[in-house]
Amino acid sequence: MLTRSRRGWELPESAATPESVWFSRRRLLAAGGAGAILAAAPGAGLLGRAAMAEEEPIAAELYPAPLNEAYELDRELTDPELATTYNNFYEFGSQKNIWRAAQALRLRPWTVTIDGMVEEEIVIDAEDLIRRMPIEERLYRLRCVEAWAMAVPWTGFELSALVDFARPLSSAQYLVMTTFEDSSQAPGQRQFWYPWPYTEGLTMAEATNELSFIATGVYGEPMPRQNGAPLRLAVPWKYGFKSVKSIVRFHFTDQRPVTFWEEIAGQEYGFWANVNPEVPHPRWSQATERMLGSDEKVPTQLFNGYGEFVAHLYDGLDGERLFM
Ligand code: MTE
Repeated sequence: MLTRSRRGWELPESAATPESVWFSRRRLLAAGGAGAILAAAPGAGLLGRAAMAEEEPIAAELYPAPLNEAYELDRELTDPELATTYNNFYEFGSQKNIWRAAQALRLRPWTVTIDGMVEEEIVIDAEDLIRRMPIEERLYRLRCVEAWAMAVPWTGFELSALVDFARPLSSAQYLVMTTFEDSSQAPGQRQFWYPWPYTEGLTMAEATNELSFIATGVYGEPMPRQNGAPLRLAVPWKYGFKSVKSIVRFHFTDQRPVTFWEEIAGQEYGFWANVNPEVPHPRWSQATERMLGSDEKVPTQLFNGYGEFVAHLYDGLDGERLFM
């Protein structure tokens, strides 16, 4: 992802502080602060950081959910401490250590609007929506366009279940998902040069593919704010920027959206963004990736290893920039 601190938007993220450096810095800080006490408190759970915010988590009784064993990993799960403290969430800043700032996000009320080319517009509270969905756990990889990767157990539901609930018209061709917009909670949204709110989109065929998942939790607990509570997309065959966080709107349309990063730098971050080790980013190679918590580079796989599920979605689309 390109970092855009005032004039520095040509800096690749790989040039930013690696997580190992600030992670140990954070540990030092936490050793004397509330973070350490929370993390050590009985019952705080793996994601004790989420407890820093005062609100009750959304639909907490649903966790942990049964594991769907159809989705296997070829690598170890990422340390939860890393996955929940090394984040991209530009609404709270362009650095990786936004987890603390993200605790300002208020999750109640969280109203979700489902509109556009649907039989009838639906406005529903996120907790109500989540409780209606078939909740399960899945082990997925996430490959960031910046060439780092992680493997996490998301909890949530298949996006196709939400599509069924939405009852789109047969003329709908795309599903556009939008993040909340409120700069009083998310100071990054005061950075006027970004085209807020964060918007992402999928074709209907992608949205109804079995891999497309709305994650509502991770590591057997409700989603921490920094990872995109209460609802975030997980499309593991695409670069991580497609996995839009903290969604408030699902909009069905026949118009392909111009997505957040596409609007900023369409030559670098396109609509399709399927992982391909042979198609380099204009400013760095995509041939390998580094798992969070490791310095070792491992080969990147076509469609991030999920080709058997999704490769057919792109038959006949040869003229498109499928891997950018
Ligand atoms: N969604 C919103 N709303 N804002 C963001 O900045 N960053 C994206 C994606 N979703 C982002 C977002 C990027 S670049 C990545 S790699 C993933 O979230 C990171 O998800 P994680 O922090 O849970 O690892």
